[in-house]
This record gives sequence, structure tokens and C-alpha cells, in this order.
Amino acid sequence: MRLLMTGGYGCIGSWVARLVLESGGELAILDLKEDRHRLDLLLDRDRADQIKYIEGDVAEPDQVLRAVDAWGPEKILHLAGLQTPTCRANPILGARVNVIGTLAIFEAACARRDQISRVVYASSAAVHGPPDAEVTGALADNVRLAPLSHYGAYKVCNEHCARVYWLERGMPSVGLRPWTVYGVGRDFGMTSEPTFAIRSAALGQPYHISYGGKQDLQYARDVAAIFLLALERPFEGADAFNLRGAVEPIEGFVAALEQAVPAARGLVTHGDRQLPIAPELDDSRLQAAFGPLPRTPLGDGIRETYDRFVALNEQGRLEP
Ligand SMILES: NC(=O)c1ccc[n+]([C@@H]2O[C@H](COP(=O)([O-])OP(=O)(O)OC[C@H]3O[C@@H](n4cnc5c(N)ncnc54)[C@H](O)[C@@H]3O)[C@@H](O)[C@H]2O)c1
Repeated sequence: MRLLMTGGYGCIGSWVARLVLESGGELAILDLKEDRHRLDLLLDRDRADQIKYIEGDVAEPDQVLRAVDAWGPEKILHLAGLQTPTCRANPILGARVNVIGTLAIFEAACARRDQISRVVYASSAAVHGPPDAEVTGALADNVRLAPLSHYGAYKVCNEHCARVYWLERGMPSVGLRPWTVYGVGRDFGMTSEPTFAIRSAALGQPYHISYGGKQDLQYARDVAAIFLLALERPFEGADAFNLRGAVEPIEGFVAALEQAVPAARGLVTHGDRQLPIAPELDDSRLQAAFGPLPRTPLGDGIRETYDRFVALNEQGRLEP
């Protein structure tokens, strides 16, 4: 597959890059600047050199179309975006990148519809608001969406616009809604703290996770693999899907960490504030559309992440 990936130097993008190159795919990354610090944690230099880098801002439609014409992709994976804290601090910038940027991707894809067969994009579990006391069981993906953040509202808007691009212009698309992605390379965003806790344990340092409550922890490699399945498996139409990993109260995450890594005992503490996103999401429609899907057990994902951080630290490649 010849793929153009926006925001490819981010956490999820770096994992996708690794999987695409391992499977012999051809990849170009469209990003604001060439910042390989996450790729360097996951890929050999030689492998990373196989990626074509295209500098550009997704919120500039001309730059997106130029990137598409320069690379000639069959599919686009759109991951570029600003995360919750940045959107909260600057909602206008957030809308420019997360909403206008997504429209620019769809416009470019539709302009080259003869060549581009699908757009897959990152939505977010933040399209859902906090858990509703009256709803029991896991929340389906096609319920009424009531986000509590600008970031979540932008993602809802993108899902609706994606559907309109299918209805009016025939562009197929898949939106995926990660919750808390964890793993090497996760170093920014509201839900990056579990990864910082694992990283601190690898350095033998204490860490306080500022929130508590339940969340859905999804291993970065699994999330990247599911994005690839959404690009590769047959699909028509426009739809957006919940993703599901390990749904745990934060105490369960700490217990899993301490069990996987006995040396971490007592190092990680946490707060008690529930993040305002329903933690129990039903991914059965995603399973039906693209399954079977990978789901690394939480303890295994934590252990792999810890071991990688330890190795990087021993090589002097982990900043304190
Ligand atoms: N990580 C998670 O837990 C999580 C959860 C839900 C949804 N998501 C979504 O998944 C996507 C990827 O997440 P991530 O964790 O890899 O993010 P990240 O913050 O690690 O990376 C985002 C990338 O987008 C790039 N970018 C930002 N603005 C850009 C612009 N204007 N033009 C081009 N590139 C730009 C950044 O340079 C960066 O490389 C995002 O859309 C995010 O909202 C992530």
C-alpha cells in the first residue's frame, strides 16, 4: 500500500510507520516539522530513512493537495491534530487544525478521487461525554454524542463531515476513536500519564497520576495495527467506531504495573478525578467490520513498554 500519513511523527503515527515498513508498504509523512524523536525510539535509522517526509500544515488546503500530488498515495491516514489541553487553551487554533485540517484532507482526497480510495482518520473516545448513571453496560458507538470538551466536539464535527463527504462526493472513510493510548512514544496529551508512570518506573522514580477513575487502556501497537486493518480490509461507506482495550480503574492499572514489574511497587500513586469520558465502550461493530483485532493483555503491554524504556535508558537515549 502506498500511504500518506498526516501527523506521522506523533505517537500513534510512529507505531503505524513501524508496522507499514515491516510489511513492505510505502509511506510518506505529512507533518509540521521533521521531528523523529518518537520514530527513533521504535525504528532503526535505516528503516526510518525509507519514509518520505513532506513538510506541511494540514490546515492549509493548498499544502495538503501539493503533498497528495507529490506522493500519489492510494490511501490517506489522517492523524494530525492538537490534543485536549491545546484545544482547551486555544479553541480557535484547535478548530483550525482539528476541523479545517480534516476538511482539507477530505477536499484533497475528493479532488484526487480517481487515485485515493479511502480516508482513515483519528476520531476519539472524547466524542462521548461522561458515563451516564442511567446507562448500564458498554456504550455503543452509534449513540447520541455529547462531548464535554472542544476537542471532543471537533471530533464529532469531523465524523459528521466525513459522512457528508461519502453522501455528496462518494469518498469512503473510517474514523477510529482511541481512549488512552499507552506505550513508548506517548509523551503528550491528557491521557499520557500512565505511560509516564511506566517510564518513571523504568527510571526507578516515583510518579503521581493526577487523575483516577476508570479508563480504557489501549496498547499503541494494537491501535496502530487496527488503523492499518481499517485501511486494508474491504469497506464502503463512512463510519466511526469505538475502540476497546483494557477497561480498568486506575488502581487496576497500578496493580497491573506492579504485577508486571515488581520493582515498580510503591512508586506510582494517583488522584481520584474521573476523566469526563465514558470508559465502557462497546467495540462490537468495529470487530464485525475489521476483526479479529489485536488486544494485547494490559500486563504484557506494560511489560513490553517498561522493558523498552529500560533498554533505551541503558543506551542513554531516555531523557531524565
Ligand atoms: N493518543 C491518544 O490516546 C489518542 C486518543 C484519542 C484520539 N487520538 C487522536 O489520534 C491522533 C494521533 O494522536 P497521537 O497521540 O499520535 O498525537 P501526537 O500529539 O503524538 O501527534 C500529533 C502529530 O500531529 C502533528 N501536527 C499537529 N498539528 C499539525 C498540523 N497543523 N499539520 C500537520 N501536522 C500537525 C504533530 O506535529 C504531531 O506529529 C490525533 O488526532 C489524536 O487526537 C489520540
